[in-house]
Amino acid sequence: MTLLSINDLTVRFPLEDGIVHAVNGVSYSIEPGTTLGCVGESGSGKSVTALSVLGLNGGSKTEISGSISFEGKPIDYADGNALRQLRGGPISIIFQDPLSSLHPFYTVGKQIAEAYLVHHKGASKKEARQQAMVALEEVGIPEASQRIDDYPHQFSGGMRQRIMIAMALINKPRLLIADEPTTALDVTVQAQILDLLKQIQRDTGMAILLITHDFGVVKEMCDDVVVMYGGRVVESAPAAEIFARPHHPYTRGLLDSLVANEDLDAPLKPIPGAPPSPSERFEGCSFAPRCQFANSQGMACGSVQPALAESGPQHHSACFLPVKNRDGFLAKSGAA
Ligand SMILES: Nc1ncnc2c1ncn2[C@@H]1O[C@H](COP(=O)(O)OP(=O)(O)O)[C@@H](O)[C@H]1O
Ligand SMILES: [Mg+2]
Repeated sequence: MTLLSINDLTVRFPLEDGIVHAVNGVSYSIEPGTTLGCVGESGSGKSVTALSVLGLNGGSKTEISGSISFEGKPIDYADGNALRQLRGGPISIIFQDPLSSLHPFYTVGKQIAEAYLVHHKGASKKEARQQAMVALEEVGIPEASQRIDDYPHQFSGGMRQRIMIAMALINKPRLLIADEPTTALDVTVQAQILDLLKQIQRDTGMAILLITHDFGVVKEMCDDVVVMYGGRVVESAPAAEIFARPHHPYTRGLLDSLVANEDLDAPLKPIPGAPPSPSERFEGCSFAPRCQFANSQGMACGSVQPALAESGPQHHSACFLPVKNRDGFLAKSGAA
């Protein structure tokens, strides 16, 4: 059974001077035990989509439509109790900056134990502390028994991210949402954290929704990929397929410089132009203003929004350019 499925999610934030169209009809799903990478430039709606899963897109003013199912059941966002059961239980989340999630005035042991107690109502404090200790050991905090009563600021950035992971995993989630979990860390520490997540996934079978703008991370970690642009999914496919045959000109643009340099960790080569402003609505493909193929070959790029449609085996993309012509452009633009 599919673990998580997001169906036609739309999220809008009404502001005083207009509406932010953050997410515009996003659908994707994750199978148990797999890692789905969600990639795209800053502002493309990756985080808002992921936060919606746990009903964390705050404010009563936020306009949300669509549905999200977990283990086959639609999540009822009107049911606060059900949401609290879900958060930090079967579905956990970690962010880029652990300091924003860890409380500065409580020891790490206390915070992890609290997270355990929320979902184990009958457990004693002693048991919770013991579980926190085990969790700290499992994420590789050296001398966990000496460090359990330390405060967050007494740890390095990498160690704090390990502590966040310990807290997120204390209730054995079946889905971990990791929103740019290593973006703030240096490369060596980043690799260690990713290895840790992979190892935990092997041991527990949890699935991971990994949000990143780094294709190196995708290659290392992900089974499947969705590429987001302007609050939409513009391409989805197994990771190997995305690297071998990107179908959407946007994905192709993102991958171009990386493939050329054979260095997936290199900074993304900016695609000329800017992403669409989420407060403006316009007809047509949101990538059209930056796309070298827009309106060529009789395509309606400027006036009609292309739907995400099957464009190959297990491969979907939202582009009017026929695949055979895309193959032509791939050959033409080459990897050089
Ligand atoms: N609470 C909010 N109120 C208004 N606008 C928001 C809010 N949260 C996010 N946005 C806007 O929604 C768009 C998508 O944001 P986000 O999902 O965070 O992008 P990213 O892909 O970088 O994670 C951005 O333009 C962002 O500024
Ligand atoms: Mg984000």
